[in-house]
Amino acid sequence: MITFRRHISLLPYNTFAVPAVADTFIVSDNAAELTHELHELRRKNRLPETMLILGGGSNVLFVSSPSWVVHPDFKGVKIEKEDESTVWVRAYAGETWDDFVAWCVERDYSGMENLSAIPGTVGACPVQNIGAYGREAKDVIEQVEVFDITEGEMLSFSRKDCTFNYRDSFFKHHRGRYLIVSALFGLSKTFTPQLSYAGLMEEMGNKPVTPATVREAVISIRRRKLPDCTVLGNAGSFFKNPAVPVRKAGLLQQQYPSLPVYPAAKGYRKVSAAWLIEQCGWKGTRKGNVGCFGLQPLILINCGNASGKELMDFANEIMDSVEKKFDIRLEPEVRIIHDSTDRV
Ligand code: FAD
Ligand code: EPU
Repeated sequence: MITFRRHISLLPYNTFAVPAVADTFIVSDNAAELTHELHELRRKNRLPETMLILGGGSNVLFVSSPSWVVHPDFKGVKIEKEDESTVWVRAYAGETWDDFVAWCVERDYSGMENLSAIPGTVGACPVQNIGAYGREAKDVIEQVEVFDITEGEMLSFSRKDCTFNYRDSFFKHHRGRYLIVSALFGLSKTFTPQLSYAGLMEEMGNKPVTPATVREAVISIRRRKLPDCTVLGNAGSFFKNPAVPVRKAGLLQQQYPSLPVYPAAKGYRKVSAAWLIEQCGWKGTRKGNVGCFGLQPLILINCGNASGKELMDFANEIMDSVEKKFDIRLEPEVRIIHDSTDRV
């Protein structure tokens, strides 16, 4: 079914819980119906120039309201093929990401257990190549099935076509044009745990190492470190960990030996944004309705009734102060919605 709704509050559709209203909100649980409808609207020149595709709203900040919103709610998880060592599972865009991870872990299909408890939908996972605890979506995504709204056709993107990178993909640079319908995941039937992320091994204790126990450990670390977005509005890390040239990372480390530095693309090192923000004195601070989370300063929080603009102003102040002290400009990881910015 496909439904067109008018003047819909987006408060329940964003985990920052900031107010915004969509003039038109299209929701559908049927991919064929929705893609056909979008194609027809385009053919009749009735699609607006810009449109926002919205999943669970856990990686967006509404600074202003979008006019048209498309909310794909296609459900389904199915095994497409398997051999002795691998199972290929297709999941549809509207599935809740963590329910899908749980489904795989219950069957001992491994590769995604470290990505447990990330909010949001399957459809959004390729967009910023979600990552946590030493794994990224790109490690398991084999193919992404999309509807090209401009050309009105279904396309298949291989992992290579998606040009995945740290919190980045092809889709992040072509917003609004490609509606992700489903993704195909290649999961392993033989378990190779990834426990190298700081603290994960310790969290495992003496438990036997299985996909289920790794999932439990990741969930318990996350519960300790991250605010529950159903209680305190947030969108996870607000900023990316910045990549800086190797030479600059070296100079910074000489000056600040406690700065955490990680590998990155050739010629670069990633440095901890949480550390930079903490050094600028923001950790645990509050300003009006917004704040910087006390346990993890990369997370900005809505302390109650904040607007998107208040959060953005606060984020800009943090970016300015980090730049002033360290000559590094942080980049938001969260998608900032200024208006209906996606050109179809
Ligand atoms: P939305 O916020 O709705 O959308 C995000 C982007 O994807 C938008 O640009 C949107 O247009 C696009 N999009 C959504 N669905 C589709 C689709 N079907 N087709 C095309 N484009 C689409 N992220 C991590 O990577 N690692 C973490 O550890 C992590 N932890 C988090 C913890 C908390 C408490 C919170 C609140 C967020 C966290 N996030 C994390 C961020 C967020 O959960 C992910 O980015 C998630 O994938 C967003 O999913 P969503 O469905 O909510 O997407
Ligand atoms: N740190 C501080 N002060 C703090 C907290 C952390 O200096 O108060 C330093 C510590 O040295 C720590 C380092 O920051 O070792 C890294 O912290 P953490 O392990 O919490 O990871 P992160 O870099 O803050 C990233 C992702 C998270 C992901 C975790 C676990 C980004 C932008 N964020 O956070 O993803 O869950 O690693 O893998 O890459 C998200 O994308 O929304 C998100 C939550």
